Amino acid sequence: MKKILITGAGGLVGRASVEHCVANGDRVVAYDRQSLDIADARKVEEVISRESPDAVINCAAWTDVDGCESDPIKAEQVNAIGPENLARSCRNSGAGFLTISTDYVFDGAKEGFYTQRDDPRPLSVYARSKLEGERRPQLEYARTIVVRTGYIFGPGGRNFLSTLVDRVRRGEKLKAIRDCWGTPTYARGLAVRLRELVELDLPGVFHVVSSGDGASFDSFAREALKLVDCDPQLVEPVSMDSLTRPAPRPRNSKLRCLLSPALGLPPLPHWHEGLAHYLKIPQAQPVVLQTEPARRA
Ligand SMILES: NC(=O)c1ccc[n+]([C@@H]2O[C@H](COP(=O)([O-])OP(=O)(O)OC[C@H]3O[C@@H](n4cnc5c(N)ncnc54)[C@H](OP(=O)(O)O)[C@@H]3O)[C@@H](O)[C@H]2O)c1
Repeated sequence: MKKILITGAGGLVGRASVEHCVANGDRVVAYDRQSLDIADARKVEEVISRESPDAVINCAAWTDVDGCESDPIKAEQVNAIGPENLARSCRNSGAGFLTISTDYVFDGAKEGFYTQRDDPRPLSVYARSKLEGERRPQLEYARTIVVRTGYIFGPGGRNFLSTLVDRVRRGEKLKAIRDCWGTPTYARGLAVRLRELVELDLPGVFHVVSSGDGASFDSFAREALKLVDCDPQLVEPVSMDSLTRPAPRPRNSKLRCLLSPALGLPPLPHWHEGLAHYLKIPQAQPVVLQTEPARRA
């Protein structure tokens, strides 16, 4: 049995990771933002040295892409210095360390899938802070595993992909971008791979996404509505340029991993399968974290 400490445990991926690790017999200590602010180096050191986990999975981040644009200092503190703090304390405690990054580190100019051979070129404050959140912990601790992912959906998520069916059922009219592509990723599948990577304990940058050719927001939305017998026409496709948002996004951020097949890791299930599974979960039922109570540091 491994002891795994999960940060950002109240978020979309944090919840999925806690659930998956608990279900697989790990001893999980789950910390949400209230119980551990990863930007606070002293608290991070205190918690990790006290808990002495075998591994830390960092699911904490400031994920408000437009919010980051107007507060680069906070973005840097949470998304770059936070993972660096965790990496340093993991090194001090001899724990494995995995942190999550984003497909937005790429500029979107490439046709096709981005692999680890492609140079990142972040367009926004959020993306720059996340790229720093890859570099800093890797410099701090050679054992760092970085997982880039994107277009995540799942229970407890607050993003467009996770909430669109509920919003349509409430009678809201939705606009979905038709000319911006990524690789949709089911949070539960991602959680499975995160745990496998922690087990493997091989440092490096991994791209982890659900299988499939990728999708635009509007094709994802139409697929979701079809699955719940709602009219796909309820979603109005719009161009990315028609929305005025503070932060630029890459037009294409589809990911593919060069390392996972080489290591014998099977592809994650297709995102269609993930979506069908997710939509069967009763939406009214809150996600229950079966974990040791997060302690205040
Ligand atoms: N969702 C996506 O489509 C997507 C795409 C690419 C990459 N990612 C990456 O995937 C990871 C997980 O994201 P997610 O989708 O699970 O986002 P999420 O639902 O927003 O979860 C992030 C969690 O981190 C917490 N947090 C924020 N600041 C913190 C701090 N200073 N210390 C500790 N916790 C803090 C948040 O708490 P509050 O809610 O209380 O602020 C939230 O519970 C992140 O690294 C993100 O960048 C996500």
